[in-house]
Amino acid sequence: MTKILLTGSDGQVGQDLQQTLIPLGEIVATNRQQLDLTSPNNIRQVIQEIQPDIIVNSAAYTAVDKAESEADLAFAVNGIAPAIIAEEAKKIGAFLLHISTDYVFDGTKNTPYLETDKTHPIGVYGQTKLAGEQGIEKNGDRYVILRTAWVYGTEGKGNFVKTMLRLGKEKEQLGIVSDQVGSPTWSYDIANTITQMLTQLNLAQTREIYHFTNSGVASWYDLAVATFAEAKNMGYPLKIKQVNPITTEDYPTPAKRPHYSVLSGKKTAKLLGKNAPYWRDSLKEMLTKLYKN
Ligand SMILES: NC(=O)c1ccc[n+]([C@@H]2O[C@H](COP(=O)([O-])OP(=O)(O)OC[C@H]3O[C@@H](n4cnc5c(N)ncnc54)[C@H](OP(=O)(O)O)[C@@H]3O)[C@@H](O)[C@H]2O)c1
Repeated sequence: MTKILLTGSDGQVGQDLQQTLIPLGEIVATNRQQLDLTSPNNIRQVIQEIQPDIIVNSAAYTAVDKAESEADLAFAVNGIAPAIIAEEAKKIGAFLLHISTDYVFDGTKNTPYLETDKTHPIGVYGQTKLAGEQGIEKNGDRYVILRTAWVYGTEGKGNFVKTMLRLGKEKEQLGIVSDQVGSPTWSYDIANTITQMLTQLNLAQTREIYHFTNSGVASWYDLAVATFAEAKNMGYPLKIKQVNPITTEDYPTPAKRPHYSVLSGKKTAKLLGKNAPYWRDSLKEMLTKLYKN
């Protein structure tokens, strides 16, 4: 039976992967307490002990703004750990599926980013994630680096959609940034895509980067408006009456973010033989799931 080691099992994508990966084999799910990515010894010891066939690394330091002042920690988790995981995977002949981000790009393009496009992160988080990719490419043998973007889900500690629901209960008006665009992506769709990739790829040979997000493009403002519209339809108790579009300049944050963060999903769609679900359909499904619980 295939043995899959999952890191970051308490995260948004990690929790969804614990469900979607079930048909593929035995899952050894590890959270931060069971496998701490800041400890190279711990990483080596756990991988040697478990001897997985596949490693899915969904753990990451994901606090984009905090990373600006905690660069060493972010670098340890996002930059160094993936290289060590890749090295250990190579030693035992395991396949590595690693998750990366749209923030490896600077957002100056105006057509969807391809897997082959030049990377140029503009913040610490993106720099650390790019270092992780490069470490895997250098140390790894068989792997997929799956870049995704703008992730929200029902599980994990929090995300933009959940923040909107909380603020929408408390406030009548909100100003939300409208000059950053990307593709909001449901963590469950990422988990499903990873699972399908692991069944459809030739794991004996693959060393590739793929992009996956939900399809379509939206700004944070669009995502907020859509969240409130769908949630209201479902009967969420919301106080919000008006959402105002604001600029990035109106809402300064410690980390710079790309203005254009759209990833081309063509390569992944070709592999899986289908297009990614439209972001608004997935948002509705996620909110339905959240509302039921
Ligand atoms: N969130 C986004 O918008 C976004 C966008 C693009 C790409 N991604 C990528 O997608 C992947 C999954 O992200 P996500 O949204 O599921 O993130 P998440 O909900 O923040 O989950 C990340 C998990 O990693 C764990 N973690 C943090 N430091 C760790 C350490 N030192 N050792 C072990 N585990 C540690 C966290 O543990 P705790 O629960 O204990 O904190 C958390 O459970 C990541 O690679 C991320 O970079 C995310």
